[in-house]
Amino acid sequence: MEKPKFKTVQEVLAAGEGLPERYLHAPTGDGEVQPLNTAVPEMDIPAIDLSLLLSASADGREELSKLHSALSTWGVVQVMNHGITEAFLDKIYKLTKEFFELPTEEKQKCAREIGSIQGYGNDMILWDDQVLDWIDRLYITTYPEDQRQLKFWPQVPLGFRETLHEYTMMQRIVIEQFFKAMARSLELEENSFLDMYGESATMDTRFNMYPPCPRPDKVIGVKPHADGSAFTLLLPDKDVEGLQFQKDGKWYKAPVVPDTILINVGDQMEIMSNGIYKSPVHRVVTNREKERISVATFCIPGADKEIQPVDELVSEARPRLYKTVKKYVELYFKYYQQGRRPIEAALI
Ligand code: OGA
Ligand code: NI
Repeated sequence: MEKPKFKTVQEVLAAGEGLPERYLHAPTGDGEVQPLNTAVPEMDIPAIDLSLLLSASADGREELSKLHSALSTWGVVQVMNHGITEAFLDKIYKLTKEFFELPTEEKQKCAREIGSIQGYGNDMILWDDQVLDWIDRLYITTYPEDQRQLKFWPQVPLGFRETLHEYTMMQRIVIEQFFKAMARSLELEENSFLDMYGESATMDTRFNMYPPCPRPDKVIGVKPHADGSAFTLLLPDKDVEGLQFQKDGKWYKAPVVPDTILINVGDQMEIMSNGIYKSPVHRVVTNREKERISVATFCIPGADKEIQPVDELVSEARPRLYKTVKKYVELYFKYYQQGRRPIEAALI
């Protein structure tokens, strides 16, 4: 799968040899190309109170309708009252920052191996002329526990492993509640999505570091993509913006709201909801002065699970849009490599 080793962005910067060509996006030739760091408007997405979503009160119903509206237009919401304290979120940011500040040799102890997605490294090189993303990352499967590969779990900074374990357990509660809320917002039985998602579902957490970049006009942090997950929980940087979502062909920046979790729909939830909830295309732009840190958790249905639109969302007025898919993530990488949206492969 992966080609031989390449320097991480932090190593490229430390070498002080200028910006390698491999990071530069050339104009595509189709007319005017806007610099990547062109200012864009902010998206207006609601902050949803997770604790209200599952209540039968009038406020709860109001919250469900906000959720429905945001997920069917943007495919993104910010979630507050998610049960994870500010102090705990701060600890995650701090440990992430400390990990990336370690000497290269220390980080290399968790290095990604050829052919593996897990571990520490630069953007995965999946094809020959790929323009590289300006990002270093640590990618770890955190759940189910028997699938953990501890060699990728940093032993320093101290507390990293324990905190990641605790965070995983806290996220599991949020994930279950969010699935139930999405089902309720579509007037479905609470467990409709959870039953399909399954007990064997995987959680992958990706710690992202975007170092300051000398050419934010031509270099991108993460290329435009939609997530292959059911949905993704994201802790965006508290101070530095960079994440953008696309709607109707235009880019909008995600607001920075401390202590909320940003949740975006992934392709597999789009399929389960028969296209009602949108898996949005998004990207990360770079910043000349500041580094940016984010922590993304991908919620991925078990490999044995068949994912398809739930029956109640298919009708004559709303015909079934997607085939049944299994092991969607494998399909995802095949399409991604060809620069295509993997969800195309699932369309009927
Ligand atoms: C991703 C992603 C956004 C961010 O990891 O899939 O879109 O803000 N990350 O880092
Ligand atoms: Ni993403």
